[in-house]
Order: sequence, then structure tokens, then C-alpha cells
Amino acid sequence: MIEYRSLRVALLGGGTVGSQVARLLLEHADELAARAGARIELTGIAVRDVDAKRDVDLPHELFTTDAESLILGADIVVELIGGLEPARTLVLQAINSGADVVTANKALLATHGPELFEAAEQVGAQLAYEAAVGGAIPIIRPLRDSMAGDTVDRILGIVNGTTNYILDRMDTTGDSLESALAAATALGYAEADPTADIEGYDAAQKAAILASLAFHTLVPVEQVHREGITGVTAAQVESARKAGYVVKLLAICERLRDPDTGDEAVSARVYPAMVDRAHPLAAVHGANNAVFVEASAAGDLMFYGAGAGGAETASAVLGDLVAVVRRHVAGGPGIAESTHAELPVLDIGQVTTRYAVTIEVLDQPGVLAAIAQIFAAHGVSVEQLEQTLSDDAGRATLVIGTHEARESSLADTVAALAADPVVDQVTSVLRVEGA
Ligand code: NDP
Ligand code: HSE
Repeated sequence: MIEYRSLRVALLGGGTVGSQVARLLLEHADELAARAGARIELTGIAVRDVDAKRDVDLPHELFTTDAESLILGADIVVELIGGLEPARTLVLQAINSGADVVTANKALLATHGPELFEAAEQVGAQLAYEAAVGGAIPIIRPLRDSMAGDTVDRILGIVNGTTNYILDRMDTTGDSLESALAAATALGYAEADPTADIEGYDAAQKAAILASLAFHTLVPVEQVHREGITGVTAAQVESARKAGYVVKLLAICERLRDPDTGDEAVSARVYPAMVDRAHPLAAVHGANNAVFVEASAAGDLMFYGAGAGGAETASAVLGDLVAVVRRHVAGGPGIAESTHAELPVLDIGQVTTRYAVTIEVLDQPGVLAAIAQIFAAHGVSVEQLEQTLSDDAGRATLVIGTHEARESSLADTVAALAADPVVDQVTSVLRVEGA
């Protein structure tokens, strides 16, 4: 029997994910020691209430409300409290006391990432965060390590399970957003307050993390353009379905050229978009996540799986933990974040994509020419146009698909359409992605 040295692990948080991490650490202690090269000794679990009922039966003596004392003397601290404070203060305390840190906290990384990575680099500590994006899906390490020799051009991610469940349900059952959200809440996918999910904040935090990693550039969450799904209607989903598309909330991270200077830049944005049903992302159903990566040498890669859940997310946390323990055993400092490229982040108005614009118009001679003229005047090229007669006599519905156009030009086009007397209303504007 090999005698392994022990490394002390302090767990901060014993909720949905933390309790599963503790369970796996205790149940698989011998196997993990053999894989990592050292025993992972769980020294305690910091929570708010040591007597709270837990999903998992864990030894009561492990629980404490004194997170600070637990951190002192730990070799590795696993932060699974969530939110900004006290998570930020405790993680900094852990790093400054010489511990490595594993976290699943996307809000913390997207908001205070630079401060935490800087602190870790100063003392040679490792800050690992595989579970912060995509739950169980390995995506952080593939981007950081496996693809370190390649150039990532674009990432299209379905990184929020709640909104994917809602949009998928609208697509497959014809449900309204309200009804699909109620179903997501009943199933426990959506929180009592679903704002972070349906308004795109959660996806924007994940986009900031992915873009920073993929482009070796600090992309603050404030520079991620964000639109949620609250404006998506059953009619839009139905119309997309008929045209061979499915509506998904996408986190898009893109390497591109500044259209004004021609310089290399990046963009990070979150919005609902139409995705061709032939694209691999269209087949991502329910609350699953997927990240589609386009790289110069590797070509297209797809990472798919459970984006949330206690045991699923714990799997990614344990992977980080074993990697950190292995580094302890081998010796040497942690791997610092790479932000050397320092590429500028473009404003949404400078980004180009394709659009589907639906308008209600008067059905009379010269209307099509007038509409075409408005698009042309703003430099937006029409790719296809479909007209159907409206139930309302003397009215018609036009669905206009554009070639790639600049966001600012499209916005000007839509404003001009809305102001034109032949247009009753602009009923829908959706981006088309994944071509
Ligand atoms: P929970 O809310 O289920 O658990 C939070 C835990 O932190 C609880 O045990 C709570 O204690 C404890 N806690 C809260 N405040 C304090 C404090 N001030 N001091 C000490 N302990 C405290 O969260 P989750 O497990 O769902 O999430 C943890 C992290 O994982 C978050 O960053 C989340 O974003 C991330 N994540 C979660 C996923 C999921 O599916 N749940 C998926 C991917 C990432 P008590 O139990 O006593 O209330
Ligand atoms: N609220 C998130 C989701 C949990 O719905 O995907 C995982 O980060």
C-alpha cells in the first residue's frame, strides 16, 4: 500500500455543489489519492447554518460557520459559496495565506477576475475554475491547455440551461415565454428570481470568462453586450421554425477586425439569435449546454453536456482539485492567466452579422421598392425577401433576410423603416448566427 502525503482542503459552501464535492471526496478518497499522488483531506465545510438540512448525509463535525479559521492551514481552498461577497474576501484571504483556490463562481471571476488572478500570480498560487462555465463540460482546460497552440477565431455558446430549456420548449410545444418559464421554475431549473438567467446576466459572465481565455485578452463583463430572452415571442419562434431555424440564447466571442481601423479586435456578446437547424447547436435541447469553438488549425469543435446540477458541477470541481494536487506533488508555481494579447473589445455597433427583419406594410404598388431603398440607403444588402398577405385586408407581412451588415447600419435601417408611412410596424428583428 503506497503511503501518500496529505493535502488539506477547506470547502467553503456545502449547498447544491459543495455537498456533492464533499460526498465524492469522502467516498472516493483512496482512488483520488492514487490519481492525484496525495491524499485529499477534507478538513471542514464552511456554511451559514451547521444544522441546516442537506441533500447529502455528511459528518456533522465537518461543518463550521468559521470560514476564516478553516482557510488558515489549508493547502487548497474550494470556494462554492457563490456571489461576490464574502466569496471575494475569502478567496483573497486563501491566496494570501499561500493556498491554491478552486472555484465555480462565474459572477466572482467575471467581476473581480483581474484582482484575483493578479493576487494568485504574486504568490505563485493556482486559481482554477473549470466549473464556472458549462457545469460538467470541460471547456476551460481545453481552451487554456489543449488549444494553447492554436488560434481561436470564434466561440458560439449555449451557456445558460434555464433559457435553453425555455426556448426549446417554446420551439417544440409552441408555448409562450411566460408558460415555458413557469415550467422551468416548476422543474427547478429557474430560480425564484430568474432575472440573471432570462436577462442574460449569467450568460454574459460566462462570455466574459470564455472570451478572456480564448483571446488572451482581458474582457470585462461590462464590455459584453447583453440582451436577454424576455422580448422573444412565440410568433418569432414559430416564424424561425418555419424558415428552418431555431431561436437560441447565444454567448458569442469573436476575433474580428475593427471595421474603422482594420486592426485586430474582439467582440463578446449575448443575445437571442436564429440558428440554422443544420448547425450542431440547434440540436442542444432542454437545459443542456454546448460550446462550439472555431479554431484556425483544429477547425470546428463542439463541447456538450450538463451545464448545471450538483453532482455534474462537482465533477468539474474535482477535476480541478486533482490537477491542483498533482501540481503540489510535482512542485512549482501555479499557471498564470494569459492576457498578453490585450486586444481591444469592439462596441456592439461595430460588429457585423446577418438579420431577419419582419415588417407589416401596406399592400400597394411601390412599397417593395420603397423598402428596398431604405435598406440600400443604409448600406444593408438584402439576401432574401418573403411576402405573405396579412389577415388584415390591404396589408402584407415581409420577412427580409440580410447579408452581413454592421449593427449600427441595421439599427439605422430599422429606425428608418419604423418612421416610413408605408410601414405599419417592425414586428421582429433577430440576428442570424452560426452560418
Ligand atoms: P448554494 O446556494 O446551493 O450553496 C451555497 C453554500 O454556501 C451553502 O452551503 C451556504 O450555507 C454557503 N454560504 C452562503 N453564504 C455563506 C457565508 N457567508 N459563509 C459561509 N458559507 C456560506 O449554491 P450552489 O452550490 O448552487 O452554487 C455554488 C457555486 O457554484 C456558485 O458560485 C454557482 O454559481 C456555482 N455553480 C452552480 C451550479 C449549480 O448547478 N448549482 C452550476 C455551475 C456553477 P448554508 O447551506 O448554511 O445556507
Ligand atoms: N442558472 C444557470 C443556468 C446555472 O441556468 O445555466 C449554471 O450556471
